[in-house]
Amino acid sequence: MLIRTRDSGFDHPRSGDITPRAVYQQRRELLKTLAAGAAGGALAAWAARDARAQTARPGKLAPLPGARSAVSGAVTMEKLTDHQDATSYNNFYEFGTDKDDPARHAHQMKTVPWSVEIEGLVNKPGRLALEDLLKLKPMEERVYRLRCVEGWSMVIPWVGYSLAELIKRVEPQGSAKYLEFVTLAENKQMPGLRSRVIDWPYTEGLRMDEALHPLALLTFGMYGEVLPHQNGAPVRLVVPWKYGFKSAKSIVKIRFLEQAPRTAWNKAAANEYGFYSNVNPEVDHPRWSQATERRIGEDGLFTKKRKTLMFNGYEAQVGQLYAGMDLRKNY
Ligand code: MTE
Repeated sequence: MLIRTRDSGFDHPRSGDITPRAVYQQRRELLKTLAAGAAGGALAAWAARDARAQTARPGKLAPLPGARSAVSGAVTMEKLTDHQDATSYNNFYEFGTDKDDPARHAHQMKTVPWSVEIEGLVNKPGRLALEDLLKLKPMEERVYRLRCVEGWSMVIPWVGYSLAELIKRVEPQGSAKYLEFVTLAENKQMPGLRSRVIDWPYTEGLRMDEALHPLALLTFGMYGEVLPHQNGAPVRLVVPWKYGFKSAKSIVKIRFLEQAPRTAWNKAAANEYGFYSNVNPEVDHPRWSQATERRIGEDGLFTKKRKTLMFNGYEAQVGQLYAGMDLRKNY
């Protein structure tokens, strides 16, 4: 061990000094890191870990636990959004366009029996019953940020497995370059279908390599329980590096295609919603800045908005999918 002399400007620790000096140095390290901004994240992570350990299952729906995911980037340590907020502030236009419409009306949706039809360029097309989808792979818990193009975000513990697992199971053919997700459209169960705001059914799309990325989650639950109706029961997508609308709810069909499909929001307003819709603070939506966001639950009068991160903070994991692409044109 190197012991510096007084001449070099450092004191030898005297024996009685040792503990206080160690404590002092630890504190100094902590202050330095705080000043550098890094400990803010670390402390928040610890707080979130505590919060998660104490978050009981809401106990409203059937349990659906998931093992902590080992996929890179799959578990953010940020504080979880309150279950009440995550289930009462929703976009699910099939039930109306107000944020509280889905929680008020989505109970009308029949989710039993449920199946997902696989169509198009695959060797194994056909109808998969929800029961079989639930058994296809072990459930994982993924704690993802979800950011809406409207400028709000949440942090939710989702339960599911990588969409890639289902894709591999149905054996896509070489010509399959895109996936289209078609969601339920039942007039009797969905009062929002009376509005022409969307060309129903609501559809979404992903490029094959995006769909195969391990972070793209085929989702069956949240907060340790099956999905509430308003959050897209019984099966939805969660694609955490894209704006929330790419995460299609209540999926009934997946088509494997050679060409990129038109998507519901792109058909509704092509200048506002492109095919990719990656979270990108540098490319604003015509009506809303994408540079900052309001985290639901942090609504105090003086609460500062958060900076939105490139690809919603998942750049290390997904950035290479878009290497060489002009993200202003491919918005
Ligand atoms: N899926 C369907 N079928 N219908 C919708 O209106 N809205 C999207 C997406 N999936 C939508 C949908 C939008 S705009 C968002 S922000 C997310 O769902 C919201 O998911 P959440 O309510 O679970 O937060």
